[in-house]
Amino acid sequence: MTLVPADRRIGGSRVSRTAVVSTALVLLCALLGVVACAPDDVGDARIGGDGPAIAGLADTPPLGWNSWNTFGCDVTEQAVRAQADAMVSSGLRDAGYRYVVVDDCWMAPTRDAAGRLQADPTRFASGIKALADYVHARGLKFGIYNGAQDKTCAQYLGDYPGATGSGGHEDIDAQTFADWGVDFLKYDWCSSESSHQRQVTAFTKMRDALRATGRPIVYSINPNSGVANSVPGADYNWGGVATMTRATNDLIAQWTSGTGSSGSQGITDTIDAVAPIGGRTGAGAFVDPDMLVVGVGNQLTPSMERTQMSMWAMMAAPLMAGNDLTTMSTQTRGILANTAVLGIDQDPAVRAGAMVDGNPEIWSRALGEKGLVVSLTNRGNHPKSMAVSLSTLGLNGDATVSAVDAWTGKRYQASGGEISVSVGVGDTALLSIH
Ligand code: GLA
Repeated sequence: MTLVPADRRIGGSRVSRTAVVSTALVLLCALLGVVACAPDDVGDARIGGDGPAIAGLADTPPLGWNSWNTFGCDVTEQAVRAQADAMVSSGLRDAGYRYVVVDDCWMAPTRDAAGRLQADPTRFASGIKALADYVHARGLKFGIYNGAQDKTCAQYLGDYPGATGSGGHEDIDAQTFADWGVDFLKYDWCSSESSHQRQVTAFTKMRDALRATGRPIVYSINPNSGVANSVPGADYNWGGVATMTRATNDLIAQWTSGTGSSGSQGITDTIDAVAPIGGRTGAGAFVDPDMLVVGVGNQLTPSMERTQMSMWAMMAAPLMAGNDLTTMSTQTRGILANTAVLGIDQDPAVRAGAMVDGNPEIWSRALGEKGLVVSLTNRGNHPKSMAVSLSTLGLNGDATVSAVDAWTGKRYQASGGEISVSVGVGDTALLSIH
């Protein structure tokens, strides 16, 4: 049987900023029988050219760990070494996690006499090259952070001294990173000045400086930080400028942002914001819904954490753990290292899924040439029996179809033209269809 995944019908198009409209467009595209709906606004004109921003890496979404959610500005070289060790001993490296990324606040507040960035002399006393060597010796890759203008975000907010952003220093900083053995650069806007042209120029300058070093460095940008009334990472398709582009404000370890958390978003808000632009993702160019909050804080249930992993996998998103890997529970490790879920995220076809039904909330994603995976998410307050009809998935209603849940291993059989599953509060069933 050849499966015809519903989400192929909308590949490559930005359909809308709301999931509801997205769903309507999927159905419309399906009705019209078109293979790909045409891009409908400027947001999908790909900036930076058709090729990958940085050639020869990140054919599938990068997997790793980032210091920000656990350590913020208190990050130290000892802490980063311990995380690298834990990535190995916990089995996350063997599960595919690779990048160990030091976020903001690693730097001394001033450059050296030659104009080069330098590490904070106390918290990173051995220097960044030694830390990168340590990480590399464990079969991992090393990442670092800087701001695209005069300040990092912590400097911009007044939480950290100095003004060491790379704006105007792109060439020397890219070369310094390459000399240190950096494999991943997180590059943050951190300014209220949000002129589109200025952003394009600044982010492209660093892309070109990274290219010029000849070292393959994943280039991860965040055009949104500091920008008040828009989300430039979602408003434009940065696929030719950066390997990964943040499409939301900061994700906090909550189910929804609730009220009063200015600028930050919860898991469900992030899914809704990123869903409509998933078609931009492909090898070497990923829409980035921000880091994982699995095992971070105490507000998320394991079900909600499974939903984050499931939906990030459905979106073919980068997975950057943000929890303390040295103290994580067996349950947290199990969620981060689930091989079936990681296999979906890392599918070599790199095609993000899309919502095919809003109520109940169902997404489908094409895997490889013939595979199909379907997610059913319960955002309600009670466990629910949820059903997906085969016709919604573009399948013949009479077909003999079975499914297996990536989380439970439970098998299901289609009956009466639909597959029914019971989904707990905040949870997601992630079904591979056969
Ligand atoms: C911004 C980014 C975060 C983090 C901080 C560091 O807020 O969105 O992910 O990098 O800056 O200051």
